[in-house]
Amino acid sequence: MKTRITEMFGIEHPVIQGGMHWVGFAEMAAAVSNAGGLGIITGLTQRTPEDLAKEIARCHEMTDKPFGVNLTFLPAFTEPPYPEYIDAIIDGGIKIVETAGRNPEAHLPKLKDAGIKVIHKCTSVRHSLKAERIGCDAVSVDGFECGGHPGEDDIPNYVLLPRAAEEIKIPFVASGGVGTASQLAAALALGADGINMGTRFIATVEAPVHQNVKDALVKASELDTALIMRSLRNTERVLKNAAVDDILEIERTKGTDLDIMDIMEQVAGVYPKIMKDGDMDAGAWSTGMVCGLIHDIPTCKELVERIVHGAEEIIQKRLEAMVS
Ligand SMILES: Cc1cc2nc3c(=O)[nH]c(=O)nc-3n(C[C@H](O)[C@H](O)[C@H](O)COP(=O)(O)O)c2cc1C
Repeated sequence: MKTRITEMFGIEHPVIQGGMHWVGFAEMAAAVSNAGGLGIITGLTQRTPEDLAKEIARCHEMTDKPFGVNLTFLPAFTEPPYPEYIDAIIDGGIKIVETAGRNPEAHLPKLKDAGIKVIHKCTSVRHSLKAERIGCDAVSVDGFECGGHPGEDDIPNYVLLPRAAEEIKIPFVASGGVGTASQLAAALALGADGINMGTRFIATVEAPVHQNVKDALVKASELDTALIMRSLRNTERVLKNAAVDDILEIERTKGTDLDIMDIMEQVAGVYPKIMKDGDMDAGAWSTGMVCGLIHDIPTCKELVERIVHGAEEIIQKRLEAMVS
C-alpha cells in the first residue's frame, strides 16, 4: 500500500503506533517498525533527556527502519525540560516526531531546522487546521473512541475523518478505535492516508507490558471504558476498574468543585504499577473502545500484515465486486 504517509515517513505500511506512556519503549517501537509500520518511543516515559537518548540508541540497535519519538505537551505540575528532550531527539538521528497535547508551535523551528517531520495529534478539525497553519507536516486525527485524551468535542471518527478530509490539505491518519483490516479500508475511504493505533498494539507479543494488561484487553468489551476528568476539561478514556469506580464516585460527589488533588491517588504515578507489575486495579490507565475488537495477542508483524493485507483484500474483492 502506498499513501502520502508511507511516502512522507519512508515506511512500507500506512500504520503508526501512537506514543503510549509506559508502553512506548524501544521494544515496542522497534517491533512495529520492523513490521513495516512506524513505531514511536514515548519521550516523557524516559525520566530525563539523557534516558531518552539511551532509549533511542537502544532502539537503533533493534531496527534499521525509521522510528519516531512522541513529545506530549499536557498540563503538568512541573514542566519537563522540552528543549533538552528535543536535543536528545535530534542528536539521536530521529527524523519523525509525534507531538500531542498543547500547541507545539514554539518547538517547531528547532525540529524543522533538524529536518524532522512533525505529525501532530488533534481531536478536532480546528486544531488540525491550526497544526497545518503552523507548519506541521501531517496530523493524527483522534476521534472520540480513542484511548487517552479525546478532547472535549466528543466527535467520533465516522464524522470527524470526513470533516477533516473536507478541510485539511496535509496528510492525516485516522486515530482512535482502529484495530482491524476493515477499519483501515474505511479510514482510507473516509479520506485518511493511514491509521494510528494505540490500544491494539498493547495486546501484542512484543509490547513490553505485564501479561495481565494484554489479557485485560482481550477480555474487555467495547462497553468497558469510561471517561474521567471531564469537569477538569482533561477528559481521559480509561479501562473500567476498581480505581476508576472510585474516581467516578468522587467526581459525582464533588461535581464541578472537583480538583485534581481529589483523585491524585488514582491517577498519579500509577502506570508502572499497571504496566510493569500487572496490578490491574492500581489506577486509571488509558484504553480505547477498540478493546471490544481485540480477541488475540499476535506479534506486531502478524497484526500489521493482517490489517494491511485484509484491507487490500476488502478493497480489491468485496468493494471492487460491488462496483464492477
Ligand atoms: C496506555 C496508553 C497510553 C497513552 N499515552 C499517550 C501519551 O503519553 N502521549 C500521547 O500523545 N498519546 C498517548 N496515548 C494515545 C495514543 O497515542 C493514541 O493516540 C490512542 O491510543 C489512539 O486510540 P486507540 O487507543 O483507540 O487506538 C496513549 C494511549 C494508551 C492506550
